[in-house]
Amino acid sequence: MPQPTLHTERLLLVPLAEQHIELEVELDSDPEVMRFLTGRASTRAEVLASHARRMALGRQVDGLGFWMAFEAPKGDPAGDEFVGLMMLPPAHGPDQPDDPTVSDLGYRLLRRHWRKGLAGEASRALLRHAFDTVGQSRVIAQTMAVNTASRALMTSVGMRHVRTYYPQWDDPLPGSEQGEVEYEITRAMWRS
Ligand SMILES: CC(C)(COP(=O)(O)OP(=O)(O)OC[C@H]1O[C@@H](n2cnc3c(N)ncnc32)[C@H](O)[C@@H]1OP(=O)(O)O)[C@@H](O)C(=O)NCCC(=O)NCCS
Repeated sequence: MPQPTLHTERLLLVPLAEQHIELEVELDSDPEVMRFLTGRASTRAEVLASHARRMALGRQVDGLGFWMAFEAPKGDPAGDEFVGLMMLPPAHGPDQPDDPTVSDLGYRLLRRHWRKGLAGEASRALLRHAFDTVGQSRVIAQTMAVNTASRALMTSVGMRHVRTYYPQWDDPLPGSEQGEVEYEITRAMWRS
């Protein structure tokens, strides 16, 4: 099953592809967007490396991967206003389970699109896709404990806090002393 294009009330979610690289560069060029990720704007080389990692992760489990979100209000389905990047790769990395039935929800929106309910709307569509189409058992999400917006979003889509943990960083960001948080939503939670 290839990654599908997904539609929500206001958004079109298009599977990430080579044609989106310049939009990824634009997104990661805002230090405020990157505040709880790297704390600074990414270089072009860093974005190209991230893009390659994302495309590789998107080939691991059928249906999972990364989507570019575009505004596509009803009556204007062309969807040419870029909103941000939505993520649902398989869980991966040192602090995540090595289990193909668990995926990792993430989101990164252009600042001008914050606080309009768009990340929540897109996240609900990805959760529906994860459980109803891909058949995942659980979706997790991780962020810095001090990332209030990200945590509020996790709660608002029905996820629950499962742990706070303290990775070792070479170059810790402000607030990293409060650790990272992990939230989850299981298939049973989603159904209820
Ligand atoms: C995190 C982020 C994607 C949220 O996107 P958004 O579209 O503004 O979120 P929404 O408008 O859908 O809001 C979802 C919920 O979070 C709440 N929320 C959003 N931003 C908030 C903030 N700064 N403070 C408190 N609550 C906030 C909303 O009120 C809403 O709650 P509700 O459903 O109970 O009303 C956005 O802030 C962003 O791109 N941040 C930079 C990248 C980032 O840090 N990503 C996460 C890294 S893991």
